[in-house]
Formats: sequence, structure tokens, C-alpha cells
Amino acid sequence: MDTYLETERLALRRFTADDADLLIELDSDPAVMRYLSGGEPTAPEVIRERHLPKILDGYEKWGGDLGLFAAHEKEDGTFIGWFILRPEQEGPLDEVELGYRLRQAAWGKGYATEGSRALLRKAFTELGVRMVWAETMSVNQGSRNVMEKLQMTLAGAIPMPPDMATIEGAERGGVRYEITEEQWKQP
Ligand SMILES: CC(C)(COP(=O)(O)OP(=O)(O)OC[C@H]1O[C@@H](n2cnc3c(N)ncnc32)[C@H](O)[C@@H]1OP(=O)(O)O)[C@@H](O)C(=O)NCCC(=O)NCCS
Repeated sequence: MDTYLETERLALRRFTADDADLLIELDSDPAVMRYLSGGEPTAPEVIRERHLPKILDGYEKWGGDLGLFAAHEKEDGTFIGWFILRPEQEGPLDEVELGYRLRQAAWGKGYATEGSRALLRKAFTELGVRMVWAETMSVNQGSRNVMEKLQMTLAGAIPMPPDMATIEGAERGGVRYEITEEQWKQP
């Protein structure tokens, strides 16, 4: 396996062109997609033709250091979902987004926090990152809890993108959290 990062229980690796089915299955669960599309699955052809090629292009663009990474349980190799550590397409390389999308079977085990914590460490100690940000719907309490456990700071409210306007809870808008290298280094 092309390991990107290991934690106590997880191994993160780069996706390959053979991984479309993992992404399709992940995005087919309405509970996983609740705060992303209102529960609608992502169409398989969108994953095959747009999402996966974009993920692979990202490794080229950022030398394999940044992008979207598949996460597996080390114990038996089970795919649990993915993490993002990624700049904006044309943004500075030292400001990156943190994100996560895990299979329902993997929720409630501390995996999102564990993977994200290791990604913050890698970002600030190896990758020259200065600031990590994360955004979610205001009502996505699970996601916000992860950000708060990482000691990210609530930076403010953000508008919902128009394609998310009909999702339940969208009227409460979104939130952005941030953590700087200095904040992360504080004891
Ligand atoms: C949000 C998500 C990543 C959380 O993953 P997870 O591995 O279950 O999170 P953790 O176990 O690390 O939980 C971190 C904290 O949040 C709490 N939490 C997790 N899900 C929660 C929920 N739905 N509601 C309230 N609290 C929740 C946990 O209890 C934990 O707090 P604790 O340690 O004090 O108990 C996962 O539910 C998911 O992938 N959801 C679907 C995709 C999604 O919404 N991604 C985020 C889009 S911005």
C-alpha cells in the first residue's frame, strides 16, 4: 500500500484509478450524504468521470503531499472513508482545507479526530502549512465536534453554496473553523 500517513489505528493512502467503487459506495449512504447533498447519492458516473480523475490530478499537482486520502483500519484493512488536506485549486500551498467523510460503520470510534489530528501534525511539521481551515453546515454537530476537539477556532459564519440551499438546516448557514501553526504549537 502507498501509505501517506499512519495513526494508531488508521492507515491513510493515496487513491488509485481502481478505487471508484469505494467512493461510489461511500457516497451511496443517505446518512453520510445528509449534510452534503441532503442525502442524495453521488452518481457513479460523476465519481468515475469527475471526482476520481480530479483526486488523481491533485497528487500530480501537489506532489502527492496534499489532496484526498483513503483511510483504512490497520487491523484488517477495512476502508473507512477519506480525509482531505488540500489547498484551494489556485490558492496558496500553506493554507489548506481539512475534511473527512467516513462510512457510517466507522462513526463514533474517534476515527475522524484521530486521522485529523495526525493530518494537522503532518501539515504543520512536514508540509510547511501555516493555517488549516475547515467548513461545515452549522447543523452538522458531529463535524463541528471534531473541529472543536482539534482545538480549531470558530472563525465565523459562512453562506451556504447555492447547490446546498435546499438541504435541511441550510437556513442556519455554515461555519468556518481555523487553526494556525502558532495556535497548534501552543501547549
Ligand atoms: C462527521 C464525522 C466525520 C464524524 O466522524 P467520527 O469518526 O464519528 O467522529 P469522532 O468519533 O472523532 O467524534 C468526535 C466527537 O464528535 C462527537 N460526534 C460525532 N458524531 C456526532 C454527531 N452526529 N452528533 C453529535 N456528536 C457527534 C463524538 O461523540 C466525539 O466527541 P466525544 O469524543 O466527546 O465523544 C462522520 O460522522 C461523517 O463522516 N459524517 C458524514 C460526512 C460528513 O458529514 N462529513 C463532514 C462534512 S463537513
